[in-house]
Amino acid sequence: MKALILSGGKGTRLRPITHTSAKQLVPIANKPILFYAIEAIVAAGVRDIGIITGETADEVEAAVGDGARFGAEITYINQSAPLGLAHAVLTARSFLGEDPFVMYLGDNLIRQGIVPIVQRFKDSTPDALILLARVPEPQHFGVAELEDGKVTRLVEKPAEPTSNLALVGVYLFNHNVFAAIDAIEYSARGELEITDAIQNMIDSGRRVEPHLIVEPHQAMVATWKDTGRLEDMLEANRIVLDDLPPRMEGTIGAGVRLDGKVILEKGCTLQNCTVRGPAIIGESTHIDDAYIGPYTSIYHGCTIRNAELEHSIVLENSVIEDVDGKIESSLIGKECRIGRSPLRPRAFKLMIGDHSRVELR
Ligand code: TTP
Repeated sequence: MKALILSGGKGTRLRPITHTSAKQLVPIANKPILFYAIEAIVAAGVRDIGIITGETADEVEAAVGDGARFGAEITYINQSAPLGLAHAVLTARSFLGEDPFVMYLGDNLIRQGIVPIVQRFKDSTPDALILLARVPEPQHFGVAELEDGKVTRLVEKPAEPTSNLALVGVYLFNHNVFAAIDAIEYSARGELEITDAIQNMIDSGRRVEPHLIVEPHQAMVATWKDTGRLEDMLEANRIVLDDLPPRMEGTIGAGVRLDGKVILEKGCTLQNCTVRGPAIIGESTHIDDAYIGPYTSIYHGCTIRNAELEHSIVLENSVIEDVDGKIESSLIGKECRIGRSPLRPRAFKLMIGDHSRVELR
């Protein structure tokens, strides 16, 4: 069995972060989302992993390497353009060969991993096994309709969903998926849709099995997150921080109060601050005269001084200083500077990238 992780794409919903970086490398609890996918696949016993890359290929390759540190062997496969999930599979055809494979969207997070799912696929050997989860807003997802426990219809991002069962970003296929992809056309949005390929498999009598990853009574317990949007990224960060054990590898100075579960990574320093977990402070980050609230992940090399921050993700080497008022529910990119200007007039002075969002009090 092989694995195919999709780490290309456009990432329009996560601009401006995706103007300069791969969304799959945004750290969730200070570890790139993509690494959780690789680890889940290796834990399920699959080591031969292809990674689809797009414009951010260099960055993805530099971060992941040859896969040895994950116990995997990684093959990079460049997709000429982000022409859809089925197009990505087609691009990987020679890598995948005749092997069955697990396809994993590199911006998805599955809390409980995929061990039982891979096992079920191996035991029941269907042509496809699709994962489904009940979601509150199915119009943002590929949606499945079931009848008597069988998949009857799949629709990509329906305007008026007829079910709340969303396709989770992990699929298992045997080589019959290629005949289905060969048979479909580009959709109205110009993509080769994996939902159309699976629908084609259903229509041509292939065995497509559904696997519901949460029981209906737990429907609101998030066990899976597609991190394509900011709010989902923040929720994924919440989910992972809740699961992590505390760790103390940093230096705690005077006037520091740590409440709840806090993870201090190597070489971080804290003074005159309150950190209320679950929260993680990254390597060589300095926190001084500040409040860091629950569900905050601050990555490596940052400085937070005279500021308050909560329910947010800050990427490496950013500086937040002298901010009057709490920053929350925010994603702050790499090497950003947020601070106070010493010069009059007292005004908001911004230099922000295209498609940025700033919400003021
Ligand atoms: P999506 O999140 O559906 O698409 P996207 O990354 O282009 O983002 P947006 O909708 O915000 O513009 O993609 C799911 C995953 O699959 C993600 O990790 C990117 C990857 N992908 C590819 O590798 N190739 C593709 O052609 C597409 C569409 C996505």
